Amino acid sequence: MDVKALVSQMTLEEKAGLCSGLDFWHTKPVERLGVPSVMVSDGPHGLRKQDSAADHLGVNESIKAVCMPAACATAASFDRALIGKMGETIGDSCQHEQLGVVLGPAVNIKRSPLCGRNFEYFSEDPYLAGEMSAAYINGVQSKNVGTSIKHFAANNQEHRRMSSSSNVDERTLREIYFPAFEISVRKAQPWTVMCSYNRINGVYASENPWLLTDVLRKDWGFEGYVMSDWGAVSNRAAGVAAGLELEMPGSNGINDRKIIAAVKAGELDEKVLDVACERMLNITYRYLDNAKPETPWDMEADHLLSAQIAGECMVLLKNEGVLPLNKEDAVAFIGEFAAKPRFQGGGSSHINCFKTTSAVEAAQGLPVTYAQGYSVADDAATDEMIAEAVKAARAAKVAVVFAGLPDAYESEGYDRAHMKMPACQNKLIEAVAEANPNTVVVLYNGSPVEMPWLGKVKAVLEAYLGGQAVGIATVNVLYGDVNPSGHLAETFPVKLSDNPSYIFYGGEGNEAPYPEGIFVGYRYYDKKEMEVLFPFGHGLSYTTFAYSNLRLSADKITDQETVTATVTVTNTGDRAGKTVVQLYVGDRESTVLRPVRELKGFEKVELQPGESKDVTFTLDKRSFAYWNTQLHDWHVETGEFTVEVGQSSRQIEVSGVVTVESTVELPRHYTVDSIFMDVMADPKAAKAVGPVLAAIQEAFTPDEDTGEASQEAVSDEMGMAMMQYMPLRGLLSFVPDKVTDDTMAELLKTLNS
Ligand code: BGC
Repeated sequence: MDVKALVSQMTLEEKAGLCSGLDFWHTKPVERLGVPSVMVSDGPHGLRKQDSAADHLGVNESIKAVCMPAACATAASFDRALIGKMGETIGDSCQHEQLGVVLGPAVNIKRSPLCGRNFEYFSEDPYLAGEMSAAYINGVQSKNVGTSIKHFAANNQEHRRMSSSSNVDERTLREIYFPAFEISVRKAQPWTVMCSYNRINGVYASENPWLLTDVLRKDWGFEGYVMSDWGAVSNRAAGVAAGLELEMPGSNGINDRKIIAAVKAGELDEKVLDVACERMLNITYRYLDNAKPETPWDMEADHLLSAQIAGECMVLLKNEGVLPLNKEDAVAFIGEFAAKPRFQGGGSSHINCFKTTSAVEAAQGLPVTYAQGYSVADDAATDEMIAEAVKAARAAKVAVVFAGLPDAYESEGYDRAHMKMPACQNKLIEAVAEANPNTVVVLYNGSPVEMPWLGKVKAVLEAYLGGQAVGIATVNVLYGDVNPSGHLAETFPVKLSDNPSYIFYGGEGNEAPYPEGIFVGYRYYDKKEMEVLFPFGHGLSYTTFAYSNLRLSADKITDQETVTATVTVTNTGDRAGKTVVQLYVGDRESTVLRPVRELKGFEKVELQPGESKDVTFTLDKRSFAYWNTQLHDWHVETGEFTVEVGQSSRQIEVSGVVTVESTVELPRHYTVDSIFMDVMADPKAAKAVGPVLAAIQEAFTPDEDTGEASQEAVSDEMGMAMMQYMPLRGLLSFVPDKVTDDTMAELLKTLNS
């Protein structure tokens, strides 16, 4: 399709019309020219295709579909191929249902455990979020269906989500809140990007030219179109100019008329509108030209795939020898979630499942009893429920309590107020653990919880929101048919107030400050050397692994070169299993604030008992760089970097050191207010300043005849140490006979030349 020619035939009205939706879920057709309408649908972990009575909060029913594990779970798989497979499956179902774009993945960073949508997001770590997102996008788009990576950007709270301003500094945006989007654009080129509701440093994402054009298109090379989150548009004409091609849903023509008026008034260049239409039609025809409505959709097969994926995501947090369970032993499943699992979150990602399988159903045929324990609807446990649970626990070899967060505790649309589980569930766990020393807790939740009972139970399995087949996966993992291999994509702090954003989260009115900057998640906890409940990257297995022999391909490189790190991993146990090899880089000495370690590579590796494999990572400039706000670019500071490889951010097994030399000189400008320390750190400037420095040193040295006392009061070292913070203008006062206004001007000229 010659899209340029098509747009050239369109009237101003048709072009303005194309830039907003027909209704909640369709783009507008241009019937006169034969351009059809295309349907989009939520995502991301299944389809929420609404045929009629559209809404975007998941209130009204959608077609029957398959609910796969949510992103809180899939991120924990650390498995790119697995999430790619999930993407392919969703792409196929989109083709079957004639959907041109699935609205996801959602990649916002988990700044606080309180964000109501954390269950939909991947991680507190931008690299992990970006890698998982890119894998998902590549999977979906391999089926010629588009994705809409969301919510761009800095949308980390639900509180006042449509009006608040995320006030974040440039470096923090580039290092923490942008990379998941950037990696996805560079590695997977999503067909569309969904801008967020919030403002960023005062400007709505939907009308932010820096965000939508400078960063997204010019820096990263995005080629598709940007659509608004549902209702995120404030000033539509400003949005078109900024780079927002599609407004969703439609505005009943109101905003179309505003676009037309802006063009007619000369406030919006019609050529900008042309480009917007071309971008939209390029994507529309990419789908239409490859539409395959005959693609089969085998929901039963997808249900089983969903169970398989969920099994790969579950994180065994603690295990004191009680798991895996023995199929001959009497086991009590306790807690309503065992019979009615919570496996997805509320809001726009809510899926109308064609079926669900609970753990109680999946355990049929095994010697398993069930006791309700608590009522989700009443958020309470009666004395009778507790008594029945205790009785069941006493009669069993092992008691497994199914707990977590009910729907009302976390959802799109609002944030959590605390990190606690329901009091009735905590009470139940305590009572069961008292009755049976072999108590296991299975958690169905979308974000971290406090665990006051942790010391009293033998094992904890974090199953997250694992999709409609979560019961199958839970039983498979509990009984060892699947060896757990998920690792935490987020830190579980001991308590909420440990979180770095705790004091500021939510903000004041519409202002949401981010003063913790780049110190998000483990970047903060590690810097603070703070105790955590479970660290980022943590996850146990039914087997054990050894890491050895870290080999770096060089001990010194420039920032234009790469270095490889190879490590040998061995399964030292007696069961096949998978380990997540994690590589972290840390700057050993830096003039800017940097985290102790940052994830720069990971690989999930399957090993038979006794088997060893080598895993190799390639590190490039970006692996060592920070965002320099003077250059407005990535920059490596010359020096030594640690390369650590381990099984979690707190379980580093092997490490090495590499020196990286920068090939970029930072621009420097000296004034009378520049201090000696900074001048002396710059070798060229230090040379120029050398002679005056000698003079000033002399001025600071006490006269011999003033005696020992003053010699002791100001030693040479102390004098130098004090002097380093003195501005150059100090020379005028301290050595006036050597430095005058004129010689100072000369000196500055030399320094800046
Ligand atoms: C959500 C998006 C979603 C859209 C359409 C919005 O409220 O923030 O994630 O895709 O609705 O349902």
